[in-house]
Amino acid sequence: MFPFIPPVVVLGLATLSLGGQLASSSWRNSQIALSQEERVGIAGAAVDVAVSMLNKDYQFGGLAWGVPGDLYSQMADFDIASNQTKYKDTLTQLYFPHALTLRANFSDEFVSHIRLDYGLSYGHAAIRAYAAYKDPVFLEYAVQSWWFGRSYTLADADVSSGKTEAKEFTIEEQCQGISMTGGTFHNTLPNDPELNALSTGHWFTLSALLGEATSDPMYLTAAIQAQNFLYAHLMNVLNQVQDSISGRANDSCSLSNIIEPYNSGLMIEGLAVLYSISGNATIQTLLNDILEAAISSTSWQGSNGVIATGGCQKPVHKTGDLNLVRGLTAAYTRNATAPDLRDDLEKYIAVQFNAVVDLATENNSNIYGASWLGPPSSVFSGTNQTTALSALIGAISLRNASETAVPTIQPSQTSPLQTSASSSVSSHSSRKATIIGAIIGSLAIVAAAVGVWVARRRWILSRRISPSMGPLNSSSPTTTAVTPFSNASMSVSIGTASKATGRRAETRYSTHKPGVASMAHTAGAQSRQRSEVARVDPPVQRALPPPLPTEELVRMLNERLQGHQWNDGEAPPEYPD
Ligand SMILES: *[C@@H]1O[C@H](CO)[C@@H](O)[C@H](O)[C@H]1NC(C)=O
Ligand SMILES: *[C@@H]1O[C@H](CO)[C@@H](O)[C@H](O)[C@H]1NC(C)=O
Ligand SMILES: *[C@@H]1O[C@H](CO)[C@@H](O)[C@H](O)[C@H]1NC(C)=O
Ligand SMILES: *[C@@H]1O[C@H](CO)[C@@H](O)[C@H](O)[C@H]1NC(C)=O
Ligand SMILES: *[C@@H]1O[C@H](CO)[C@@H](O)[C@H](O)[C@H]1NC(C)=O
Ligand SMILES: *[C@@H]1O[C@H](CO)[C@@H](O)[C@H](O)[C@H]1NC(C)=O
Ligand SMILES: *[C@@H]1O[C@H](CO)[C@@H](O)[C@H](O)[C@H]1NC(C)=O
Ligand SMILES: *[C@@H]1O[C@H](CO)[C@@H](O)[C@H](O)[C@H]1NC(C)=O
Repeated sequence: MFPFIPPVVVLGLATLSLGGQLASSSWRNSQIALSQEERVGIAGAAVDVAVSMLNKDYQFGGLAWGVPGDLYSQMADFDIASNQTKYKDTLTQLYFPHALTLRANFSDEFVSHIRLDYGLSYGHAAIRAYAAYKDPVFLEYAVQSWWFGRSYTLADADVSSGKTEAKEFTIEEQCQGISMTGGTFHNTLPNDPELNALSTGHWFTLSALLGEATSDPMYLTAAIQAQNFLYAHLMNVLNQVQDSISGRANDSCSLSNIIEPYNSGLMIEGLAVLYSISGNATIQTLLNDILEAAISSTSWQGSNGVIATGGCQKPVHKTGDLNLVRGLTAAYTRNATAPDLRDDLEKYIAVQFNAVVDLATENNSNIYGASWLGPPSSVFSGTNQTTALSALIGAISLRNASETAVPTIQPSQTSPLQTSASSSVSSHSSRKATIIGAIIGSLAIVAAAVGVWVARRRWILSRRISPSMGPLNSSSPTTTAVTPFSNASMSVSIGTASKATGRRAETRYSTHKPGVASMAHTAGAQSRQRSEVARVDPPVQRALPPPLPTEELVRMLNERLQGHQWNDGEAPPEYPD
C-alpha cells in the first residue's frame, strides 16, 4: 500500500517537532508575537509609504511598469486581509483609469520594457480588486489584461499551424511528445522565442482567478493549459519550476534550468486557486509537491529559512521574493494544501514576516530594504518595498503564538542518537513519507534504521559522487554544506515519486539541452548540480501518466462553480482570500 520509504525519512522524523512536519528547528523565529491589529498597522503603514512615493502617473519613477501593478494588487490584498475598503476609491478612481490612458489593456508593449508579466500584473491587481470591492469595472480591467496575455500565449491553433501573429518564427509543436499549448512568451519582441515560467505563471494565476470569478470555461481552459505547460515542460524531478524553454521550432526544446522562487510561487498561487475552485485531489497533490519543495529549498535560503535569493539580474544582491510569498499566502488563506503541510506553511510565512520586521527596517521609517536579513535602508525603493509588503500582508491572516502553541518534543529529549543523526542529514524531509514514518515510527525503529542507513548511505555516497562533481562541491562553502541534504532529499523524492515525476525524470534530463549558458549563476549552478545527481540515480521506470484531460476538467470545474449559484457580480463566498 505504501511505497518504500528510505530510512532517511524515518531519520528525518526524529529531528522534527510535532508542530510541523517540514518546519526546521533552525528556522529563524516562526512564531507571530504581534496581534493582528498590530500587523494590520504595520502593513498599512508600509503600503502608505509606497503610495506616497508614486509619481503623477501613479508609477515609481525609473522602475518597470510591472512594479506599481504589484503594489495595486497588494492594496487590494491588504483590504481583503483586513476587512477594509481603505484603497477602494484610489484604485477605482485614480490608478486603474490612469494606467489605461498610458497603455492599452495595461500592456507593456512600449518604451524599453516589453515583458508580459509586467502587463499581466495589472490584470492580477484588477481581479483582486474585484474580489475586494465587487465593482464590475475591475472585472472588465482584468478581462482586458487577459486579452493582452492571450495574444502572447500559445493556443492549440498556434501550435498545430506552427504560427502565431505575435512572433516571426516557426512555433515548436511539442517537446518530449507533449504539446507546447499554454506557454506564454516572456516578451513582445517578434524574434524572442522564450516561453518562461514568469509570464506563464502570471497568465496562469490571472486565468484561474478570472475562472473563479466568472465560471467562464474560456478562462478555466486557459488556466489548465498553463498548468499543464508548466507541469510538463518546466517542472523538474525535484518539483522545482525551472525558468524557461524555447518555443521556436529549430531550437530543440532548449531549456533554461535556473531555479528562482518566483517561478514556484506563481505556480503555487495558480494551483491554490484551481484547487479551491475544484477540490480536485490531483491538483492538490501537485500543489503540495511544489510547495513542499519550495519551503525546503536550499536554492534561495539558508538554514534560517529566510528567503534571500540572488535574483537573475543581481547575483550579489540578496533579496526576498514577492511572488513566492504571495503564492504561499494564497495557499494558506484558501486552505488549499494537505492539512499536515498547513502548519509548515504558516511557520514559513511567519519566518519571512519576522525577518522583514526585525531586520529589513529601522527607526519606524516604514521603509524596507531589499534584503530580509538586513541591513535596512533609509532609501525608499518601490521594488524593495513591494517585495517586503508581500510578507507584511501575508502575515495578517496568520494565527498568533498563543493560537499556534502546541507541545513540542525537542530532539535532545527523545534520543541521544539524534544528535549525530541531525548533523549528517537535514531535518527537512518528505511530508508524505514523514506521516507514514510517524505511523510506523517508534524510537526503536528509528535507532535501528539510522544505524543501517547511515552505513549504507556512506557506501552509496562514496560510489555516487563522480569525480566531476568533486570540484563543484568543494568550490564554495554553501554547496559543500547543502550536498548531504541534496543527496538525501533526492533519495526521498525519487523513492516516493509519483508516476508523473517518475516519468519526468526519465525524459527530462535526457532530451533537454543544457540551460542557457549566459544566464548561469549560483542558483543555476545548484540546479545543474542536482541534475547531475538525478542522472546518476535514475528512478524506477514507470508508466507515462495521461496529461490532465482539459475538457473534462473544465466541465467538472464549471459544473462545480454553477452548483454554487452565486451571482455573477459576487466573488465566491466561501473563500476568505
Ligand atoms: C492571539 O489570538 C487570540 C485569539 O484570537 C487572542 O485572544 C489573543 O489576545 C491574541 N494574542 C495576541 C498577543 O495578540
Ligand atoms: C476579517 O474578518 C474575518 C472573518 O470575519 C476574521 O476572521 C478576521 O480576523 C478579520 N480580520 C481582521 C484584520 O479584522
Ligand atoms: C483588449 O481587450 C479587449 C477586451 O476588453 C479585447 O477585445 C482586445 O482584443 C484587447 N486588445 C489587445 C491589444 O489585447
Ligand atoms: C529550421 O531548420 C530547417 C532544417 O535545418 C530549415 O530548413 C528551416 O528553414 C528552419 N526553419 C526556420 C524557421 O529557421
Ligand atoms: C481531478 O482531475 C483529474 C485530472 O483531470 C481527474 O482525472 C480526476 O477525476 C479529478 N478528480 C475529481 C475528484 O474530480
Ligand atoms: C482546512 O481544510 C481541512 C480539510 O482539508 C479542514 O479539516 C480544516 O478544518 C480546514 N482548516 C481551516 C482553518 O479552514
Ligand atoms: C534596496 O535596498 C537595498 C538595501 O537593502 C539598497 O542598497 C538599495 O539602494 C535599495 N534600492 C534599490 C533600488 O535596490
Ligand atoms: C536610524 O537612525 C540612526 C540614528 O539616527 C541612523 O544612524 C541610521 O542610519 C538610521 N537607519 C535607517 C535605516 O534609516
